[in-house]
Amino acid sequence: MRLDERSAHLAEAMAERGLWPERSPWIRRAVGALPRHRFAPDRLWSWDGSAGVYVPVDRAADPGRWAAEVYAGPDAPAVIQITGGRASSSLSCPAVVVDMLDSLLLEPGRRVLELGTGTGWNTALLAHRAGPDRVTSVEVDPQLAAAARERLAAAGTRVEVRVGDGTAGWPQGAPYDRVIATYAVEEVPWAWVEQTRPGGRIVTPWGRLGHVALTIAPDGRSASGWVQGLAQFMPARGTDPGAPFHHVRDRQPPDIEGPFPRALGPLTGPERGHLLFALRVLLPDIHVTAGAGQAGTVVWLHDGHTSWATLTPRTGTDAGPDADVVARQGGPRRLADEVLRAWTVWEERGAPVLYDFGLTRTPNEQWVWSGDPDGPRWQPMAPAAVR
Ligand SMILES: C[S@@+](CC[C@H](N)C(=O)[O-])C[C@H]1O[C@@H](n2cnc3c(N)ncnc32)[C@H](O)[C@@H]1O
Repeated sequence: MRLDERSAHLAEAMAERGLWPERSPWIRRAVGALPRHRFAPDRLWSWDGSAGVYVPVDRAADPGRWAAEVYAGPDAPAVIQITGGRASSSLSCPAVVVDMLDSLLLEPGRRVLELGTGTGWNTALLAHRAGPDRVTSVEVDPQLAAAARERLAAAGTRVEVRVGDGTAGWPQGAPYDRVIATYAVEEVPWAWVEQTRPGGRIVTPWGRLGHVALTIAPDGRSASGWVQGLAQFMPARGTDPGAPFHHVRDRQPPDIEGPFPRALGPLTGPERGHLLFALRVLLPDIHVTAGAGQAGTVVWLHDGHTSWATLTPRTGTDAGPDADVVARQGGPRRLADEVLRAWTVWEERGAPVLYDFGLTRTPNEQWVWSGDPDGPRWQPMAPAAVR
């Protein structure tokens, strides 16, 4: 299949899943005019699950596989850079790019700051809507910035690509009407708020799960807004990713096993984003992932350093989402107990869904709320028991 055909095919697949936002018809037009393959570098990296490493996919050597990586589907990013064995830059997955652009409420003529240029694809889409000389994009990696600059020029796009740490924004171009980040932050940098005009909007992935859209208050002294959707982005460079689950487990034998008094459906089913988001807020350093194990779906918990737990359906029971669950825990923290306490808090507060949550940033503070900006604050919980 030709690249243009693959692009059209992907657009159709997105239409079938209702992924093109109705209120922003410009996004589909922009993606049609600036297809993602024009921004993909000649070398991509594909995850080889059996070897546990990324392997290169070169356009010249295997154009079909390269094209398949670029157009792997609405939810698939294409990794473009590996640093220390981990993905450090990617051509983001189409569904999330589209969703975040929709959240930005971008009109023609607006001045935009983007943090995390990567390939330049999202930069080009922003410029398609905002117009020439309206978009400044900041990338921390000079080589990626140079390559993006070339691709953006080849696509006829007039934007500024700067090299720098996006944490500082780009004050030389302030004030902006819109700020959009394509890497995940834990704390929204205050510089982004300062550099956005009152009434303007910041859209950024927050934590490991959701993206938020914040509106700047009339006095410019705070920014607040709702979670808009799921968005799994790589964290800002320099963030300690911690060790993977199996490394943590191999250091610590399991030393406690017992029943876990919840069925796993809310952590593993299609609606899992709601509880996972609450856990992310209440237990920011605990990684929660689910996958297939021998007895059904397994949930893995770890803190990247000392402690881990697994939640598995009890052998001999039906391994479906309502099966009885066993917790195995190792290390000084009791992660299954911590998750149970946070799960209970979420239930006691009415089991809010992802879209009930929001975030407020002031010069000295940031907090997550639910219901409305004056609603209950969701503070991280202290570890349940540290031995
Ligand atoms: C997911 S990728 C960008 C995807 C891009 N929108 C695209 O579709 O090609 C995230 C990018 O953010 C960059 N990045 C990470 N931390 C950064 C920081 N503190 N300042 C600027 N760029 C950063 C990474 O180098 C990477 O290129």
